[in-house]
Amino acid sequence: MNRRTIVAANWKMNGNLNLVEEMSERLNQVQLDDNVDVIVCPSFLYLAAMAAKLAHQNIYLGAQNVNAQPSGAFTGEVSTSMLQDFPVKYVILGHSERRSVFQESSESVAQKVRSVLNAGLTPILCIGESAQQRTAEQTESVLAEQLQPVIDEIGIEKFNEVVIAYEPVWAIGTGKTASPEMAQATHQFIRQFLASNNTDIADKVPLLYGGSVNAQNCEALFAQPDIDGGLLGGASLKVDEFSQICSTVKGS
Ligand code: PGA
Repeated sequence: MNRRTIVAANWKMNGNLNLVEEMSERLNQVQLDDNVDVIVCPSFLYLAAMAAKLAHQNIYLGAQNVNAQPSGAFTGEVSTSMLQDFPVKYVILGHSERRSVFQESSESVAQKVRSVLNAGLTPILCIGESAQQRTAEQTESVLAEQLQPVIDEIGIEKFNEVVIAYEPVWAIGTGKTASPEMAQATHQFIRQFLASNNTDIADKVPLLYGGSVNAQNCEALFAQPDIDGGLLGGASLKVDEFSQICSTVKGS
């Protein structure tokens, strides 16, 4: 199965208008391999500015979160229809920081996935285990527990329109990347788990790796058979490094 390779940037609560300008200018000049897509997810506040500046066929905009409700008295929240007023195509959901800092449960993440799909947007569903869970050999059960509520909510067929990012919590922002072999083994488990529900869908779903991906380690990680690209935090804020990663990544 030839899946496209995706390089996604999660700026988190970082960046400013200056970075929007510099990154867009640089990315507009990047020559991407034919099978590579790039997604940039700045803060909600910078989506409009980024949309106005990005002019590259295979570079898309994403948001970092959304509320599952269509509208209403939810002070401080953003709805999918608001995102639809901008050329936003992707929405990161269930990032480990949302799960741990903002207490999002897998069930509430599943509801967000459904709202995002209903709005015609593509969720980037993040899953991953903590260091403690990996040491206790609970990685596979944790990932299954994070995936199952989403399967229950939307049905496996809808995963046709979902991107999954496997991000071990212990590798996020720590400089400790999973080795390509360890990441591949976990990605293989995720694909098999999906395949136990539907093999065709499992074959098609892009599985991104995230957690301290940088210009030095991305090639070996993305070369693994079940790794279809990455979700980058720290490295995605550095104009030189991120644009270099985008231009050197080879599509499968
Ligand atoms: P990192 O973050 O690349 O800085 O580890 C990745 C993420 O949290 O998506």
